[in-house]
Amino acid sequence: MAYTAKDYSKLIGMAGFSETLLKNHFTLYQGYVTNTNKVLDALAGLLKEGKTAAPEYAELKRRLGWEFDGMRLHEYYFENLGGKAAFDLTGKLGKKIVESFGSYEAWEKDFKAVGTMRGIGWVILYQDTASGQLINFWINEHDVGHPAGCQPILVMDVFEHAFMIDYGLKRADYVEAFFKNIDWKAAEARLK
Ligand SMILES: [Fe+2]
Repeated sequence: MAYTAKDYSKLIGMAGFSETLLKNHFTLYQGYVTNTNKVLDALAGLLKEGKTAAPEYAELKRRLGWEFDGMRLHEYYFENLGGKAAFDLTGKLGKKIVESFGSYEAWEKDFKAVGTMRGIGWVILYQDTASGQLINFWINEHDVGHPAGCQPILVMDVFEHAFMIDYGLKRADYVEAFFKNIDWKAAEARLK
């Protein structure tokens, strides 16, 4: 079953994100969807032909994590943007953040600190579904470093394409713009 790129054009007009930046980002996301489908098709073809020992099978299997996660992480990212309501600290996610980090401020400080680390990647607030606790993770590449069995709650893209058109090297300003547009309800709905 092929994946279909979702339409996030409703995010156009969001404060702090230019139309050019968002349109470029949507195009990039669509590329991951296309390539996920291509890799899955090619792997299915090789399996059918009995070529699972071929080097291209191994290379495509390695590539699948990159393309698939590139697709899915962008979906989490765009879907936790476009929010207008303020964060409700007394809600389910608010309580969980306080429980895990001591205070909302401590969580935000940690998440933003991860977001301004040198290098490109993702910042993901993960819920460890085994213990229930929330942890901020730095994900260096789409396919590397995800904590096993954990649930993404809030995803922030810090690859250069996510901010350079609008902010140049001022990544902290982009992080502030991201925070102003978080869809907290979408994030909260991901809690297990
Ligand atoms: Fe991105």
